[in-house]
Amino acid sequence: MQNSIKSVAVIGAGTMGNGIAHVFAQKGFTVHLIDTNTAILEKAISTITKNLDRQISKGIISQEEKEQSLLRISTYQSIASGVTDVDLIIEAATENSIIKKDIFKQMDEFANEYCILSTNTSSISISELAAVTNRPHKVIGMHFMNPVPVMKLVEIINGDKTDEATTHTIVELTKTIDKIPCVVKDAPGFIANRILMPMINEAIIALSEGISDAATIDQIMKLGMAHPMGPLQLADYIGLDVCKNILDIMHEGFKDDKYAPCPLLIRMVKEGNLGVKTGKGFYTY
Ligand SMILES: NC(=O)c1ccc[n+]([C@@H]2O[C@H](COP(=O)([O-])OP(=O)(O)OC[C@H]3O[C@@H](n4cnc5c(N)ncnc54)[C@H](O)[C@@H]3O)[C@@H](O)[C@H]2O)c1
Repeated sequence: MQNSIKSVAVIGAGTMGNGIAHVFAQKGFTVHLIDTNTAILEKAISTITKNLDRQISKGIISQEEKEQSLLRISTYQSIASGVTDVDLIIEAATENSIIKKDIFKQMDEFANEYCILSTNTSSISISELAAVTNRPHKVIGMHFMNPVPVMKLVEIINGDKTDEATTHTIVELTKTIDKIPCVVKDAPGFIANRILMPMINEAIIALSEGISDAATIDQIMKLGMAHPMGPLQLADYIGLDVCKNILDIMHEGFKDDKYAPCPLLIRMVKEGNLGVKTGKGFYTY
């Protein structure tokens, strides 16, 4: 049984994958960054470089540490080539259970027997992903927050078969990358999104009822609850499609209409107004 993690493969080099690769490389781990899309891999390395430069300008790291961090990252276009011989895989690919189940089958097939298989999913059941593998006891959720290099929380989600050794290894690992682990059980939305998404949905309902405008709703939550960002602005940053998708999963999972995405959110997603990534959501970017 191997407990010490020295190398990590990150599957998916998008918003979350590049942040996760950045943090592990900066903390001295060998990182294999995998994406089927080469343009995304190139963009990820340039984003990591820019973010390391920002850390230099803030005096957080040195030029030497930046260079060493970049040297620790290598990129791969297939799971088969990128996961052999790593100690941990963090899956951060597109939030779609069919895609993730296929990826988990490949992770299980190509990773060594000691490797822990984890996922950064926001809402898909860890136990269901674990069930497509032959090592459900070594499958766990590692839910990082965006932007990964900045946010301290990692929600650690135990599937119904995750064993104690796996949880222990991942909790300790999370501390070594200077993050704070919070362990929860597998349930739709886990804890972070189960509480956050109904708040965002309620803010959108209030907006659609004309109770107030977007800026005022956000201001109330910032000033009144000391939230760093209002719920509508936060929804724009997360992506309105992502918010709707998580609400749909909770609605279906709990069979409770309190999680149903509100009509304005559904309409904005249909119209392609997804927030920051499309330039328009509750605000214009
Ligand atoms: N964006 C957020 O704020 C956030 C926060 C927490 C968790 N998450 C979760 O993190 C995961 C990734 O989200 P994201 O926002 O980074 O998505 P993204 O769309 O930015 O990136 C996903 C990447 O996965 C790649 N991909 C898809 N199929 C693949 C495959 N078979 N093999 C390798 N790469 C593949 C895509 O090319 C893409 O680059 C999702 O599960 C999401 O729910 C997102």
